[in-house]
Amino acid sequence: MNSNNPLKSLDHWEDDLLERYPEKKKSKKKDDFRNYTDSERQKTVSEFYRLNHKFQTYEFVIKKEKEFLSFNKRKMKVWDAIDFLNTLVDDSDPDLDLDQTQHLLQTSEAIRNDGHEDWFILTGFLHDLGKVLCLFGEPQWAVVGDTFPVGCRFSDSIVYPEFFNDNLDIHNEKYNSKLGIYNENCGLENVKMSWGHDEYLFQILKPHLPLPALYMIRYHSFYSQHRENAYDFLLNDQDHEMFEWVKKFNQYDLYSKAPKPPNTKELKPYYQDLISKFLPEYINF
Ligand SMILES: [Fe+2]
Ligand SMILES: [Fe+2]
Repeated sequence: MNSNNPLKSLDHWEDDLLERYPEKKKSKKKDDFRNYTDSERQKTVSEFYRLNHKFQTYEFVIKKEKEFLSFNKRKMKVWDAIDFLNTLVDDSDPDLDLDQTQHLLQTSEAIRNDGHEDWFILTGFLHDLGKVLCLFGEPQWAVVGDTFPVGCRFSDSIVYPEFFNDNLDIHNEKYNSKLGIYNENCGLENVKMSWGHDEYLFQILKPHLPLPALYMIRYHSFYSQHRENAYDFLLNDQDHEMFEWVKKFNQYDLYSKAPKPPNTKELKPYYQDLISKFLPEYINF
């Protein structure tokens, strides 16, 4: 186990999400998960969250914003970024894992099959592109996993809440009260979230996509809110309205995994058109 990157596959935290939030329609089937025993995965997932909860402090988020929100790492066409993301190799079983592009396409194709608008389909296709952070050398715990507000008390509804005992912010009076540095119902726009692929991609795509799409991207890993409503006291009316979209999106993100991988080559022209309808040719990462 690499001490800074305990997950054997970057997607194992998402498999863990399926156990925490099984699809209502289906009973949980063991085959739905990768061939990596539950106990083994559980161990790496808990180690992953131990690191995540220890190191995601308010200061850490500010530091990462400075480092990444000047977008001077790499300039790429969207499809090249998708291909780049696919070079993310992890040591899980290659026969059983879908690559990153396939997860994106399964999500977006499920949205498309339900007849949703094109911006929604595109959002499905792009939503995890922020995981390129891993390829810039970032540890797993600063890229994936549940996200949560920093700068106020950590909710017990966040997965593995006990690991926050190692987070320095719980000893800081500024940050350890219910509201911390925030005002009641100040709106999530004013709230800093733990750093990861969600916030990073939101900041990149902010000028280009409609508001519901931006909410889906920014908050899709904020399970303690979109599943548990643990932070209602920070949300404003717009947030409540937009979280209906986040919840809708989450169904596709979690439950679109199908055994048959989508045909990337066949689908590429359609997605190329969609990308050029909404986004510039080059994006700065
Ligand atoms: Fe994601
Ligand atoms: Fe995803």
